[in-house]
Amino acid sequence: MPTIAVASPKGGSGKSTVSVLLGTEMARAGGKVTFLDCDPNRSISIWARLKDKLPARIAVRNDIDENNIVSRIRELDRGGRIIIADLEGIASRLVSRAISQADLVLIPMRATALDANIGMQTAGLIAKQERVLARRIRYAVVLTMTRAILSQQHRKTERRLKQQGIAVIRPSLMERAAFAALFDLGGDLQAMPAQGRMDKAIANARGFAMAVYNHLLTQRQEGTHEPARRPRVQGQQRPIGGGQIPDPGSQHPTAQ
Ligand SMILES: Nc1ncnc2c1ncn2[C@@H]1O[C@H](COP(=O)(O)OP(=O)(O)O)[C@@H](O)[C@H]1O
Ligand SMILES: [Mg+2]
Repeated sequence: MPTIAVASPKGGSGKSTVSVLLGTEMARAGGKVTFLDCDPNRSISIWARLKDKLPARIAVRNDIDENNIVSRIRELDRGGRIIIADLEGIASRLVSRAISQADLVLIPMRATALDANIGMQTAGLIAKQERVLARRIRYAVVLTMTRAILSQQHRKTERRLKQQGIAVIRPSLMERAAFAALFDLGGDLQAMPAQGRMDKAIANARGFAMAVYNHLLTQRQEGTHEPARRPRVQGQQRPIGGGQIPDPGSQHPTAQ
């Protein structure tokens, strides 16, 4: 099953929120999800402790360090788990090793030039791992905390990313009270008492998770063993079928 690393050097860019929304939606759709809480702030572990029980099919590991991350990911992958690594905001060996194992790296960022410049530093780390491993590591930007009416700055940032051939997951994640409340209330959106327009929040999170899943499927079809060509725009949307998440394939190489 796929390993998804969520990375950005920018604190507060939405890494933990993206991780929890993606993981809880994939678990809702039938996938078995393990979060690797790799951030010393322990946001995912705090989220997990807010409720007596985690949502169905979700596990959290916070015993991950630079020495064991590669073997942990391999074990979990063999066990058929979808792995979502919520990474720390610095360029560390732990982050590089997580990236080396990833089928997809998600880079969350607000749609501003400043945040995009900081967020895209992650691309440098990815390129380094690509050179070391001689394989391509796909990545995509997730625009977070977006508004219903797009600002000029948002449009410009998205256009610039596109011009550079960088994949942007659509839909973006809107700024929603329910998303922020995940880290106050725990659990998933469906179990949460209403926070604003829950139907819209759930539809946004579900659409986002499906887009990530379809992105993984597209990359599988394109083949992934060529190093260092930047991703093109994302392919056709395809729904997650029948409440079960089939394996889009993983390709974990030797780690550095
Ligand atoms: N889409 C969103 N809507 C509302 N609040 C958000 C959203 N994404 C992130 N936040 C809030 O912004 C803050 C930083 O997000 P977080 O996911 O913790 O970032 P990071 O893990 O990159 O430090 C948190 O308070 C979180 O609740
Ligand atoms: Mg975080």
